[in-house]
Amino acid sequence: MAYIIDGKKLAAEIKQEVAQEVQGLMGKGIEPHLAVIIVGSDPASQVYVRNKHKACQEVGVRSSIIELSENTTQSVLLARIEELNTDKAVHGILVQSPLPKGLDEQEAFQSISPLKDVDCFHPENVGLLTQGRPRFLPCTPAGVVEILVRTGIEIPGKYIVIVGRSNIVGRPLANMLTQKSDRGNATVTICHTRTRGLSYYTKQADIVIAAAGSPGTIIGEMLNNNCVVVDVGVNRVEDPAAKSGFRLVGDVDFESAELVASHITPVPGGVGPMTIAMLLRNCVKAATSPVSPPWQGGD
Ligand code: GUN
Repeated sequence: MAYIIDGKKLAAEIKQEVAQEVQGLMGKGIEPHLAVIIVGSDPASQVYVRNKHKACQEVGVRSSIIELSENTTQSVLLARIEELNTDKAVHGILVQSPLPKGLDEQEAFQSISPLKDVDCFHPENVGLLTQGRPRFLPCTPAGVVEILVRTGIEIPGKYIVIVGRSNIVGRPLANMLTQKSDRGNATVTICHTRTRGLSYYTKQADIVIAAAGSPGTIIGEMLNNNCVVVDVGVNRVEDPAAKSGFRLVGDVDFESAELVASHITPVPGGVGPMTIAMLLRNCVKAATSPVSPPWQGGD
């Protein structure tokens, strides 16, 4: 039976560390400030934004939520982002994804100042990460790595299979885990919807990271005995017994996987809280960095 990793507890530890750093910054007259833009009324996004706001308050990071209506135009969205880019009191900017149909998400992410890009979605920051000299670490991949490190699971030399190739999780995570570092040096395979014989790969893995966005992607019989399973999936499935009519499940069939794995993360309570903790870390990082890069002439 697997050890169930408590992501909430690990995130609480990190939040305490961040709260101390925030206190230090406040002593120097700096109040870290995150601005979150949410467009429209997607219920899942509203929950995510509320959770981020609450976490900011817990550690002393100022949080502003900018709510824009469903029919906001791209130019209004970009203008709001530009206002925040030039606002010296704002250190981190996050545009909650997904945006309503008709808005160009990539253009929005790219218009955020790379120095305030606490999601690490800007191409400049993705490039720096890829070269092994990150400005920010992307929140969910960083949360996964932090879970492994804080649980005492060695990464160097391991064979890690990531299922899912998204720009938010799979690809940056593979990049981080293959860097020459004591949090990297793993051998990584990215599998995806066109992979033939997924079990062939997962069966050999020391660590399986499921980030496919589909329930039941991984079941116990696809796993190697005593492997580590990290479930990044957050899927709503109908549940008439639940008050809301749905419940959250990951990409892993927990019941069968926990019989085979040595360690497993639950959903909810695994990677999710760690993602938010990493966002807070990035806000502190953004608040301590120079306002402009030297090649732009300083501020
Ligand atoms: N929507 C779901 N996850 C994320 C995230 O990590 N960042 C942003 N901006 N939107 C999201």
